[in-house]
Amino acid sequence: MSAQKLEAAAQAMVADGKGILAIDESSPTIKKRFDTIKTECTEENRRAYRELLITCAGLEEFVSGMILFDETIRQSTSDGVPFPELMKNKGIMPGIKVDKGAKDLAGHPGEKVTEGLDGLRDRLAEYRELGAPFAKWRAVITIGDGIPSLGCIEANAHGLARYAALCQEAGLVPMVEPEVLLDGNHSIERCFEVTEATLRALFSSLHQQRVLLEGTILKASMVLSGKNAPSRAGVEAVAEQTIACLKRSVPAALPGVVFLSGGQAPQEATAHLNAMNAITGDLPWKLSFSYSRALQEPALNTWAGSAANGKSAQDALHHRAQLNSAASLGKYSEAMEKQAA
Ligand code: 13P
Repeated sequence: MSAQKLEAAAQAMVADGKGILAIDESSPTIKKRFDTIKTECTEENRRAYRELLITCAGLEEFVSGMILFDETIRQSTSDGVPFPELMKNKGIMPGIKVDKGAKDLAGHPGEKVTEGLDGLRDRLAEYRELGAPFAKWRAVITIGDGIPSLGCIEANAHGLARYAALCQEAGLVPMVEPEVLLDGNHSIERCFEVTEATLRALFSSLHQQRVLLEGTILKASMVLSGKNAPSRAGVEAVAEQTIACLKRSVPAALPGVVFLSGGQAPQEATAHLNAMNAITGDLPWKLSFSYSRALQEPALNTWAGSAANGKSAQDALHHRAQLNSAASLGKYSEAMEKQAA
C-alpha cells in the first residue's frame, strides 16, 4: 500500500469525534471478564457477546474502528455475516491484535517482553485478506523497585518497531501500544519519568526501523499516580502531565494518540480524556480513546450473559461511546452521565 493510503487510514482512525473500541481480549482475559458476571467462557458466549458489541446501532458515529482478537475476526453473526464484513458495511474498521502476549523477560525479574514477531509477515498477509486495515501490538512496562530497566524498555521498543515496519510493508496501519502499568504505589512524577523514557525509546526504534510516522497511531497510557499511591493526582494534573509528557516525546508527524484505560473506572477515563482536549486546541496530534474496559464495563455488567439484556447492554455501550466521543472534542461534562443514550 502506498504511503498516502496508510496516512489516510491512520487519519480516519482519529477522525473528529471518533475513537476506537478495543474488543481484542485474549481467551484468558475474556474469561476473567466473564467470571465477573458468572458467565461461562464458551466460544458461543464469546461470539454472542462480541456480536452484541459489533451490531450496536449508531456506534459508528463515535467509533472509527474496533480491535478484534484472532478468534473474533473469523467469527460471524448468528445469521452468518462475517464480523469484518458487517463492520465494514457500518463504516467501522476491523482492526486486529497481532502480538502473542507479554512473556517473562530473561534475566529481568518482574519484567516482560512481548512476543509474536516469528511468522508475523505471513499472519499480517492473512489478516489483510480478512479485511483488517490496522493492527495492534501491546508491550507492558512495569514500575517497581529498580524497574523498569533499560533492557526491558529497549527490548519492547525494538519489538514494537519491528512489528510496525512489518505492518506497513503489508499495508496495515500499526497501532503501537507501550503500556506503562497502573499497578503500584508510585507517584505521578515517577509515571511521567517512565512514560517519557518509554516513548523516547519507542520513537527512536521506530525511526531506526524506517517506520512512517504519518501512517502510525500511538496507543498510550495516561500519566497517572499508581493505583495504590497514598494520594492520587486529580483530573487536571493527569491531563497536564500527560500532555507535557507527550509533547516531550511524541513527534508532531504522528496523526493521533489514542489512550488505553488500563484499569481506570469508566467515568474517570472519560474525564481525563476530556480534560486533555479541553486544555488546548493547538496540539499537533488528535487525542482520543481506544478503551476496552472503560467502554465495555457497563455493557458487560448489563448483559450479564443473558440474550434478554442485549438491547440494554447496547444502550449502555452507546452511551459510554457517546460520552467518550464528546471527551475527544473536549465537550464532555459530568451532567451528561445521567442523560439517556
Ligand atoms: P483497557 O482499556 O481495558 O486497558 O484495554 C486496552 C487494550 O489495550 C485493549 O486493546
